[in-house]
This record gives sequence, C-alpha cells and structure tokens, in this order.
Amino acid sequence: METKQFTTDEIGEAAELIRQGELIAFPTETVYGLGANALDEQAVKQVYTVKGRPSDNPLIVHVSDFEMVTHYVTDFPKHTKALVDAFWPGPLTLIFDVKPTTFSTTVTGGLNTVAFRMPNNLKTIELIKEANVPLVGPSANTSGKPSPTTAKHVYHDLHGKIAGILDDGPTQIGVESTVLDLTTKNGVPVVLRPGAITKEQLEQVVGKVTLDQHLITEKEAPKAPGMKYKHYSPDVPVWIIDGDKDVFDKAINWAKSKNQRIGLFASDRITSAFSTEVTAIFSFGEDTVEQGTKLLFAGLRSLDEQNIDVIFAQAFPESELGIAYMNRLKKAANQKILKIDSIFE
Ligand code: TXA
Ligand code: MG
Repeated sequence: METKQFTTDEIGEAAELIRQGELIAFPTETVYGLGANALDEQAVKQVYTVKGRPSDNPLIVHVSDFEMVTHYVTDFPKHTKALVDAFWPGPLTLIFDVKPTTFSTTVTGGLNTVAFRMPNNLKTIELIKEANVPLVGPSANTSGKPSPTTAKHVYHDLHGKIAGILDDGPTQIGVESTVLDLTTKNGVPVVLRPGAITKEQLEQVVGKVTLDQHLITEKEAPKAPGMKYKHYSPDVPVWIIDGDKDVFDKAINWAKSKNQRIGLFASDRITSAFSTEVTAIFSFGEDTVEQGTKLLFAGLRSLDEQNIDVIFAQAFPESELGIAYMNRLKKAANQKILKIDSIFE
C-alpha cells in the first residue's frame, strides 16, 4: 500500500478514507496519532496490527467536541464539566464509564470504561468533523518505539502499512496527554499517565487528585494497561544522567574508557561543553523541561540512527512537567539512572 502524505488542504480526501475504513495518521499538540473510525471494528483491529500493539491495551477515542462524547456516556462524574471547560481542547484524556455495546472490545480492551480526548489541533478537529465519526488514536509509532512528533517519524515506522498521514508540522508538547480516571469509587480523580496537564493544574479545578500508585512505587501494577509495556525505547541503550556537567564528564570518561561511542541528549548548556568528546549530539536548546520534553522523542529517534553504543540523556527534577518527562525517559532507559558517586567510583 502506498502511504499518501496529505497537506492540510486535503483533509476532505483523508476524511473520506477514514469513512472507508482506512487508517490515517493525524497531528495533535502532543504526538501524532494513528486514526481510524472508532465505530468500525475491522479498522480498529488494523490499528493494533500495524502498530504491533498488545490487544489488552485500550485506545483513546478522539472527538471534535464534548457533545460527541455524550453519544457514548450517560452518567458524567461531577467534575466533568469543569475539566472540559478548563482543559479541552488540550492534552487531557478523560476516562468515563461507557454505555454498553457502543464500542467494540477492540477499542475498550474489554474494560467498561473508555478514554476520550479532544486534541488541540484545528486540522485534526476538521478531520474528525468531516469524517463525522470519533477516531481511535494511539500514538502513530511501532509499539515500543518512541512516539512520533513529526510526520516523518510516522512515515519511518508505518509507511506502506497505512493509507495516509496528515502533516501539520512538528507537535508542540512532545509527550502524550495526561490520562485521568474519573470512574474511581471514592470520586477522587486519579492520574494514570502523567502529561503536560499537571496534577497541580488539575487540583486547581477539581480539588484533590491522586497519582496512580505505580507512578509512586515501581512495585505496583499500573492501572492504564499501556503503562506496563516497554516503551519509547531506541535500540541503543539509554542512561539518564542525573546531575550537572561534572556527572556528564564522569559518564563520558567511563564510556570512553570502554571504547563506547557516545550520543548526548541534553541542552545547549551541557552539550556545548562536550562537543569534541562525543560521537553524536542532539541538543534540545534552551535548558528547560519544556524544551527537553518537546524534543525528547525526536532526539532519541535521531541518536538511535547514528553509529553509537550508548545514549546519555539529561534528567530534570520530577515535579510538574518534569514528572511526564522523567516518566518517558525512565522507560526509554529501562530505569537506568546515573548519579554522581554511583557506578563510576
Ligand atoms: O496524547 C495522546 O494521548 C496521544 C495522541 C495521539 O492523542 N495518544 C496516545 O494514545 O498516547 P496511546 O494509545 O498511545 O495511549 C493510550 C493510553 C494507554 O496507556 C492506555 O492503556 C490508556 O491510555 N487507556 C486507554 N483507555 C483506557 C481505559 N479505559 N482505562 C485505563 N487506561 C486507558
Ligand atoms: Mg503510545
């Protein structure tokens, strides 16, 4: 199958293909999604097949407005309106109890709940409106690889397997949406996956919010099925460097003593100090967690294509957006973190 690259002037054609049961990747503010008609079971099955995704991992249903959700959910939890008013369109996925028989178990992974999100991208909103159906939209990567933040990343993983890609340039946020479960027994919303909408921001709107236990102690099984799988992993091993230039310096010397070719993922401030020491550099520019998050997956993908043996990636403090950044980076690194005085001594 030829994978067509659609410009944003060709949304009508892309929407027609969705209606015919084809798969079209779409842009969002977080990462690119792999779109299919959520009401077409065959199309949804194809999404799992082309991604190589485990079948017990449910999908997010993307809508063009809140009204669309009301077709599938009857009882909304009390905080729904406040959250939708505050954060939609935007990087917040909300989990509701769903009316039985509306979506196939292929969408729900056999759960009684469904995750909904209204992405903040006008082209994708137009695509959903024109297709006139809700779209499933997992990240448009091969399962286990870093999520795609450009149309080129999608093409790299899925060309020949999907009908098309709607290109709207690089995504702004760089990591997937915050997933918030509103179906808990005690009524306190739970963050199942950290994203750009932070716990603090949510608490300003709804009062108390908790983090799923697995985000606090690694021993607990995550409640969002997708969080238990290996994720975001380049083929080259990744180590997180939790410290400043002195820790990078130690890590680099250690790797060089083992004849390892090194790739660096860090800000300009760090990378500029080591430009002659390493084989490959991907700088995310300004030394902020926003910049690091925006370019994390692009950086891991780019370094993975170079001739290196190890990637050293910069840590950020685990607060606010740093929770989402470190959550993805730790998975990419298989939890390998180097601090000063650790293994180089
Ligand atoms: O930003 C995003 O959310 C992107 C863009 C494309 O919208 N989409 C995305 O989808 O990240 P995906 O399929 O890669 O991740 C969906 C996550 C998985 O961890 C899945 O287990 C969880 O949401 N999830 C979906 N439905 C759920 C449900 N009913 N209960 C608990 N977790 C659910
Ligand atoms: Mg994903």
